[in-house]
Amino acid sequence: MMLPVLLLLLSAFGPASAWIPVEDWESGNVTASVGESGQCVCHVFLPDTTFPADRVQHMQQVSKDLILEVEIQIKKMVSYEGKLEIYLKELKDLTVRVAMLQSSADNYIKLDFELLRIELREFEALVSQLKDSFNSSSPMFDSLYNEIRNMTLIVNQLETYDKSNLDVIRIEFAKLQKKLEDCQKEQDLIKPDIGNCNHTGIMSLSKPLVVQVNAHLNAGFQYGGWGKDSKPVRGYESMYFYGAYSSPSVHDFYLYSDYEKLILRSAFKQHTIPNGWQGTGNNYIVHGNSIYYQRNSPFSMTKLNLTSSKYDYRVIPAASTKFSYSYSDNQNLDFAGDETGLWVLYASEESKGKIVVAKVDEKNFGIQDEWKTGAFKQLAGNAFMVCGVMYATRSVDLNTEEIYYAYDTKTKEERHLNIPFQKFQEKYSNLDYNPTDQKLYMYNNGYYVSYNVRFNRE
Ligand SMILES: *[C@@H]1O[C@H](CO)[C@@H](O)[C@H](O)[C@H]1NC(C)=O
Ligand SMILES: *[C@@H]1O[C@H](CO)[C@@H](O)[C@H](O)[C@H]1NC(C)=O
Ligand SMILES: *[C@@H]1O[C@H](CO)[C@@H](O)[C@H](O)[C@H]1NC(C)=O
Ligand SMILES: *[C@@H]1O[C@H](CO)[C@@H](O)[C@H](O)[C@H]1NC(C)=O
Ligand SMILES: *[C@@H]1O[C@H](CO)[C@@H](O)[C@H](O)[C@H]1NC(C)=O
Repeated sequence: MMLPVLLLLLSAFGPASAWIPVEDWESGNVTASVGESGQCVCHVFLPDTTFPADRVQHMQQVSKDLILEVEIQIKKMVSYEGKLEIYLKELKDLTVRVAMLQSSADNYIKLDFELLRIELREFEALVSQLKDSFNSSSPMFDSLYNEIRNMTLIVNQLETYDKSNLDVIRIEFAKLQKKLEDCQKEQDLIKPDIGNCNHTGIMSLSKPLVVQVNAHLNAGFQYGGWGKDSKPVRGYESMYFYGAYSSPSVHDFYLYSDYEKLILRSAFKQHTIPNGWQGTGNNYIVHGNSIYYQRNSPFSMTKLNLTSSKYDYRVIPAASTKFSYSYSDNQNLDFAGDETGLWVLYASEESKGKIVVAKVDEKNFGIQDEWKTGAFKQLAGNAFMVCGVMYATRSVDLNTEEIYYAYDTKTKEERHLNIPFQKFQEKYSNLDYNPTDQKLYMYNNGYYVSYNVRFNRE
């Protein structure tokens, strides 16, 4: 930063003065005189705005500090090479590490490490959970457990180093998560109830699995959604979607071929919504390889077919823009996919703000049936469908949410429930069930969060 400024000054005043006769200097802010020993003395008066001497001095200091900082970082890098083992032994005490982390210039790194640690804790809990439910001391679990332990150590050590390590950690994480997924799949084989509605409703939710902050690495992108296709087409069973922004407006979607790619933020496709088709409200889902979202104008349910990249829309005349869920504005149309198909939840003047459950006929893209529930939309945090039953949530406190209401479209019966679950952050803008893995996907104040759902079986 310093060098170009100095060079500029030299070229402006040094060489130029040689070309200008002394007499011509007798004007303005430059004067010249002959010194005692006959040398030429020039006085240049430069106003502060042209030559900020004090600021230059400050910059020199800053630059010195920066050079020092760079030297420190380079030293760290050099010693890091091939010295990982030594560092592993030198576990610095927590306060030092926190201080160093706080002085880190890159907030994303801080955030990532914080998340990695949360993730590791979640992993640990999940693995021991899985282990318990398996009731076995399988070597697979033992090695997974050890790997998590090792990762914790490495994360703690690497947090003060450069960003490139982060990608290494991310890849390790993706591998770890893949193994965990395989474990869960193995468990699913033992309990083959995916797609089966042979139960009497939700019993409980697991602890939240905080996957990571959104792909923009921007915790300010509070409005968004993520998840998987609730009725994937062949070849896209592992696909994930994501979209978010700093306001409830919806203008692009990202698609990832699998979990690893999601973690690495490596999308295979970005759909930027063309002018006029932009949406709002963030209660979108992917179902049958189409994204269903709420279009702004005309206010309507809209479908982006990911196979053909074509857009289509339908106005729902009764649906009102007056009623949203409690955490975010503009959530007027909430899409949901379950074992029985595609749904859209909304509230109307006629329903007096209570949620109406509408079944969407996917072929004709129309409403084929509707049910009025007793849940006031504005009191609910969000709602989702499982096996033709609508579940509504509400806030208990900053860290706790509960499923408090259920409406069964088959029996037209409503039930009041009290199924609490933990939140990672207070507010969330998207909560949806996915029947292909029986998980809930939540976009929790910028973070990807998911829950395993357990059902009552008689
Ligand atoms: C001398 O500097 C003053 C500001 O300090 C400026 O307003 C003025 O135009 C300068 N005179 C010449 C001849 O550059
Ligand atoms: C768990 O495993 C132990 C020993 O292998 C066995 O005695 C016990 O009955 C098992 N418990 C369950 C709930 O399967
Ligand atoms: C964990 O680290 C220990 C010691 O560094 C090593 O012996 C072990 O193989 C590692 N385990 C796994 C599962 O990576
Ligand atoms: C449904 O559950 C009951 C009780 O657990 C069981 O007897 C029955 O076989 C199950 N039916 C199906 C289709 O899984
Ligand atoms: C999407 O487009 C493909 C190709 O045109 C078509 O076969 C499919 O039925 C469409 N899906 C939906 C849900 O509109």
